[in-house]
Amino acid sequence: MALLSPSSYANTSITIEGNHFIRAGKPHQIISGSMDFQRIPRAYWQDRLQKARAMGLNAITTYVFWNAVEPKPGQFDFSDNNDVAAFVRMAQAQGLDVILRPGPYVCAEWEAGGFPAWLFADPHLHVRTQDPKYLQAVERYFQRLGKELAPLMASHGGPIVAVQVENEYGSYGDDRAYMEQIHQALIRAGFGADLMFTSDGADLLNNDALSGVLAVVNFGTGEAKGAFAKLKAFRPDQPKMAGEYWAGWFDHWGEPHAQTDANVQAKELAWMLSQGYSVNIYMFEGGTSFGFMNGANFQGNPSDHYAPQTTSYDYDAPLDEAGRPKPKFAKFRDVIAKATGIKPTPLPTPTSFMGVPAFTLTESASLWDNLPEPVTTEQPQPMEQFGQAYGYILYRTQLAGPVSGELYIGEVRDYAMVYVDRKLIGTVDRRLKQVSLPITLDAGPHTLDMLVENTGRINYGPHLADGRAGLVDPVLLDGKELHGWQTYALPMTSPDAIRGWTTQPVAGPAFHRGHFKITSTADTFLDVGAFSKGFAWVNGRNLGRIWDIGPQRSLYLPAPWLEQGDNTVVVFDLQTTKDAVVRGGTKQFWYRSDVKTPK
Ligand code: GLA
Repeated sequence: MALLSPSSYANTSITIEGNHFIRAGKPHQIISGSMDFQRIPRAYWQDRLQKARAMGLNAITTYVFWNAVEPKPGQFDFSDNNDVAAFVRMAQAQGLDVILRPGPYVCAEWEAGGFPAWLFADPHLHVRTQDPKYLQAVERYFQRLGKELAPLMASHGGPIVAVQVENEYGSYGDDRAYMEQIHQALIRAGFGADLMFTSDGADLLNNDALSGVLAVVNFGTGEAKGAFAKLKAFRPDQPKMAGEYWAGWFDHWGEPHAQTDANVQAKELAWMLSQGYSVNIYMFEGGTSFGFMNGANFQGNPSDHYAPQTTSYDYDAPLDEAGRPKPKFAKFRDVIAKATGIKPTPLPTPTSFMGVPAFTLTESASLWDNLPEPVTTEQPQPMEQFGQAYGYILYRTQLAGPVSGELYIGEVRDYAMVYVDRKLIGTVDRRLKQVSLPITLDAGPHTLDMLVENTGRINYGPHLADGRAGLVDPVLLDGKELHGWQTYALPMTSPDAIRGWTTQPVAGPAFHRGHFKITSTADTFLDVGAFSKGFAWVNGRNLGRIWDIGPQRSLYLPAPWLEQGDNTVVVFDLQTTKDAVVRGGTKQFWYRSDVKTPK
């Protein structure tokens, strides 16, 4: 298809005529890549957008993660890495269109698919339904987002050419009236001025498509022909677009790192472009689910289980997690240049990387010395009941021995360390469908502590509707319910107030602190292979999770978060470690890198 170069149509809307997109009076092909601004440090947005142009993309598709922009009901935060309007304007300055996917649900291997944890504090609120309480929350979010972004719609001279309604709702339900409610809420918020679309797997298009709204199809490597055939049959008279072409895949903890076939993908991309189809490559850059922002899969069939995703969202994308072009980038760039006849812009100067010589975390502080004031309840309550969204939560009660039997804690969300008198007696891991453990107590009083980690709320499948974290079931000892609990909220928002640092060995779950000095800043990957399970802060930024079951063994540490001079690393680890050694490398470290075929 003969294409106009981006400068010739800048800031004009895309419209539909028959089965063509039309731009400035000519047929237009959208060649987009996904990149979620909230997964990339703000200081690198421009670099990544320039790289998108350099691969030949004419658009960037991004989700907006609602939980990050509305951390408390009605309290919005569009600062720093949440400044979506700044990102959109930056894309415009690079000559890129923006395709916006505001949710409210986004999937995306992101905590609860983007739903704020506070939605789950009300057991009577039902997400992704016509429940008025849910729709009111959505309305408030969209209205506020509209203030940021409606002026940046293409029809007002901005770069936003299209807005997605919900996300693959067809794989969750078939309530079109719900979809229409979301559609109308977007229009009320100012997002109806340009193209709107729904997006689904090829067999699910009919579940949620809306009349008069473009339907696009999502599929994986090797599935393009079949998927487009189904889209054509479903909507013969509209433009054909891949809303997500999965040219990569994500990782779950405990499974091999995904590696996919760039040659097959390059061929498939060439074929799609030669057919005149529009496409969005998912992901152009995956980036990082920093902090506690990874999600989890749980599809719902009986053989399936809870499967949390890693912090790294590398995705085997054309740019790696740290934004460096991989061989896939050059292959896709050549395919796009050939198909469009447009010479791609040059790559910007590469970002710099460094190794950090091994250093030891010599100081430790016990978690037991860092508990906040507890809240007393009769039965264990989920995390959201304490106003807490993420992190850890400790449940404590007193037991009287002697007892020998089973301690049942139900569907733990999601990983529990169980201690009697501060001695670890076992773990309960939701991934493994564990719900209980054996317990033996001597005569006399004992303290039972259950430290529960929210390992990432489910972002896909029917179970996402119940996003409660922590303990959700009654706890039974030998069949008898335990009453009288003290609960300690441990959201782990900052390492600043940690007390009791010592260079002596510390038993049990603890914080570990060390420093490294640098003369100039550059990106690095921190090798955290010395730890078992926890997470790491550097200079107060939560880089993400650590888990020795892999595949991820290092955490991406971007240069903009480093200081020239002294940098402080604080790692929380569930197991006892002493004098753990950490180093920085220029590449990701993996525990496992066996090839995995995407589903
Ligand atoms: C779907 C969703 C995306 C993402 C991919 C898998 O297509 O729409 O958000 O979860 O699956 O990576």
